[in-house]
Amino acid sequence: MEEMSNSLPFDSLHNPSIERYRQIYKESIENPEKFWDEHAWILNWYKKWDKVLDDSNAPFYRWFINGKLNISYNAVDRHVNNFRRNKAAFIYTNERGEEKIVTYHGLYKRVNSFAQALKDMGIKKGDTIAIYLPMIIEAPVAMLAAARIGAAFTLVFSGFGAEALAERINDSGAKLIVTADGGYRRGKIIQLKEIVDKALEYTSNVETVIVVKHTNTDVNMVEGRDYWYHHITGENIYVEPEPMDSNDPLFILYTSGTTGKPKGIVHSTGGYAVWVSSTLKWAFDPQETDRWWCAADIGWITGHSYIVFAPLILGLTSILYEGSFDYPFPDQIWRIIELYGVNILYTSPTAIRMLMKYGDIYPKKHDLSSLRILGTVGEPINPAAWEWYYKNVGNSRCPIVDTYWQTETGGFIISPQLGIANWPLKPGSATYPHPGIEPVIIKENGEIAKVGEKGYLFIKKPWPGLMLTVNKDPNRYVSTYFSKVKGYYFTGDYAIMDNDGYFWLLGRADEVLKVSGHRIGTIEVEDALLSTELVSEAGVFGKPHQVKGESIVAFVVPKSGIQREGLEERLKQMVREKFGPIIVPDEIHVVEMLPKTRSGKIMRRVIKAVYLDQLPGDLTTLESEASVSEIRDAVEKFRNEIKQ
Ligand code: PRX
Repeated sequence: MEEMSNSLPFDSLHNPSIERYRQIYKESIENPEKFWDEHAWILNWYKKWDKVLDDSNAPFYRWFINGKLNISYNAVDRHVNNFRRNKAAFIYTNERGEEKIVTYHGLYKRVNSFAQALKDMGIKKGDTIAIYLPMIIEAPVAMLAAARIGAAFTLVFSGFGAEALAERINDSGAKLIVTADGGYRRGKIIQLKEIVDKALEYTSNVETVIVVKHTNTDVNMVEGRDYWYHHITGENIYVEPEPMDSNDPLFILYTSGTTGKPKGIVHSTGGYAVWVSSTLKWAFDPQETDRWWCAADIGWITGHSYIVFAPLILGLTSILYEGSFDYPFPDQIWRIIELYGVNILYTSPTAIRMLMKYGDIYPKKHDLSSLRILGTVGEPINPAAWEWYYKNVGNSRCPIVDTYWQTETGGFIISPQLGIANWPLKPGSATYPHPGIEPVIIKENGEIAKVGEKGYLFIKKPWPGLMLTVNKDPNRYVSTYFSKVKGYYFTGDYAIMDNDGYFWLLGRADEVLKVSGHRIGTIEVEDALLSTELVSEAGVFGKPHQVKGESIVAFVVPKSGIQREGLEERLKQMVREKFGPIIVPDEIHVVEMLPKTRSGKIMRRVIKAVYLDQLPGDLTTLESEASVSEIRDAVEKFRNEIKQ
């Protein structure tokens, strides 16, 4: 199929300076249609759009109307007929020291072959598939193969348990799931196929299961439903990429919010691809010969956007690592950087704090001189962690790109932009907005915050990476994101802007926790506890944690007749099995009653304040004073136990 070529003069983005940024930023805000009309040529399109932005059905913004493209073409095909053919697209390694290098040519072959396998299994344009895989090559291959034939995918983090997986399969309507026999994690094998089998007991839409042989674990294969990946792939096949509409959904990614049910964030094809590839160029200025390591899990938006789509669209070489940074050695991460000559490292503040605890000796033991740029994501970075990262990892010469964004924003929205600008960094600030992003901070009383005043962060105008909607729940899209201040996108975060116009992100303003950079809703954890049927009430909040940022604390009331002895452990185990380890509270306290309002709502802020020895605030709506003393007693008892 004939495609229209990429003609964006990238040289114009070089010679970074504040003036250059100001000019680009100004163009993007004053005339977004003209700006994106030019910048969308970072991709190859089969057909040019008729209109850049359709805002007639706001806040359901649509970009590049009637433009046609295929992401797998952009991520793979366009590199195989030039010098990138034999360039590594992915260098896979794991905690066992195994290694696999997949070139663009190799990726092209794999994607085509798996695209055909999906077609043979009856998957067609408009269908959805689920992917539940560890950090192995088959994960990006499955994502790209689905996109190639026009199917959407939902990739579920392999740390989620059977019920969490089933919930996502049901909501997305996936007809097929790609999984593996197992995945490696700290010397253990996580039995992924077993979890899939359990999940399929709670869902009826999945007809086919494709299993990658990875850990050589024994699995139960169901005749007529389950197929080995290696039995159905490997043919020399070319599958014509399906020309997709710019606004066709590419994937659904579930994320936590202020209710128990995770939201299926739906991303587009054209706008999303333009956004993630442009923002990666602006923020990190990656070079052709760089080795890029986005050390997130592919199950989160960071992995989707910056392990898979953006680096492949730009033709970069990425490290794909299956395992923990500190296993089997405390210096595992530094070994990998040295061995593969990583040039850009992008990770989370939690990971940095964890590595910091092991001490400076570990990074010092290694040659980290290949590093040029460092990045962080997922939570605010405290200045001490920033300094440690800067000095001990970057040897005081690598800029730190603190990227602020969300599942819903598709890609970075506020961050340093080394490709276009050179402003000084401030530890803890994500600095300035990307082109097209107009942040505004609004106070509780509705007034625009002055310099240095804390308020809620909103984004005034749409941008191409903004999600399309919430799957099957457009009302939730409008009410969650566009109703607090009508027409403005609400991030759910607090922020301030300083005298120099730098943005400082101050954490969530809602019932959402950030635990090791993972986004977890307090109500999601409460629902998980209630689903065990061992407790009748649960109140959950986050407490500050030195390494993880926040940790999960729960207060629960047992159901009558339930034995208190060992209840905490039983709850943890059940929640782990059903929903996965990341939802499990670090502390569970058993009490007789919880503070509630007269209308029966659990007052989490009161529980949290008592726990943290803070003033509980307004108690006029409290139903029973005794509930507060109950919490106080439980906390005291807990502290005494720790002391002993
Ligand atoms: O609170 C903000 C925090 O992470 C939230 C988004 O989480 P999620 O959708 O899981 O995406 C994480 C990866 C993009 C935000 O609402 N957050 C993310 N990056 C930063 C951050 N907080 C401060 N600084 C950051 N750089």
